Amino acid sequence: MTNPILKINDVTKIYGEGDNKVVAVDSVTLSITRGEVLLIMGPSGSGKTTLLSMMGCILRPTKGDVVVDEQLITDFTEDALPDIRKRYFGFVFQSFNLFPSLKAVENVELVLRLKNHDKKEMRKEALKLLETVGLGKRTNFYPEDLSGGEKQRVAFARALAGEPAIILADEPTGNLDSKTGMMVLKLLRDIAENFEKAVAIVSHDPKALDTAHRVVHLEDGRIKA
Ligand SMILES: Nc1ncnc2c1ncn2[C@@H]1O[C@H](COP(=O)(O)OP(=O)(O)OP(=O)(O)O)[C@@H](O)[C@H]1O
Ligand SMILES: [Mg+2]
Repeated sequence: MTNPILKINDVTKIYGEGDNKVVAVDSVTLSITRGEVLLIMGPSGSGKTTLLSMMGCILRPTKGDVVVDEQLITDFTEDALPDIRKRYFGFVFQSFNLFPSLKAVENVELVLRLKNHDKKEMRKEALKLLETVGLGKRTNFYPEDLSGGEKQRVAFARALAGEPAIILADEPTGNLDSKTGMMVLKLLRDIAENFEKAVAIVSHDPKALDTAHRVVHLEDGRIKA
């Protein structure tokens, strides 16, 4: 068994103070390993997005540690975090977040550019990534001309840009019909297994259970036994 690429140890996030204080995530410990899909389930407001944001070094915990590839992120300064995110993480959101004025291939290239990818190789790499997610025939389409499932696959190609070890997806099927949602979840699992990525998916959808190697249930910010 290889070491986890991402660990969070006894992590708590508290928003606000006084009467407005919300303990969004409460003493959560978990880890993910390359090749594995972890599913995070739980009702609305249970702290899933907050947890995923801390896992992705987007949000700092109030208490507890995040460890990425054996590096204790707690010790890093704020201006070191963008590099950690670029190097280790690909993010996928419910709303796809594609640039409408850019073709599929250009949407992927944009992220490669942000990740300082070799300029001359960018187009080739973007096409390869779209091929990987089964969109080799749609590379010159604009987002508005793609179906929901295809848009989400462009988002996956983008998340894979720069070969991050970890993919974090917040409700990736939230805007898809259930058949397309299943397809997209299966693709995430294939990505985890074929490319040795550690994948964490937040979802309400019980169908997502079939595609995960491991599941945690959150309730009021805590992992339910
Ligand atoms: N920026 C914020 N400031 C204050 N409270 C927040 C903030 N973000 C989230 N919360 C609160 O923290 C709790 C957890 O929110 P979070 O968004 O993590 O839940 P969630 O499980 O992702 O919900 P959903 O399924 O609706 O997306 C909620 O009570 C929410 O109101
Ligand atoms: Mg959420």
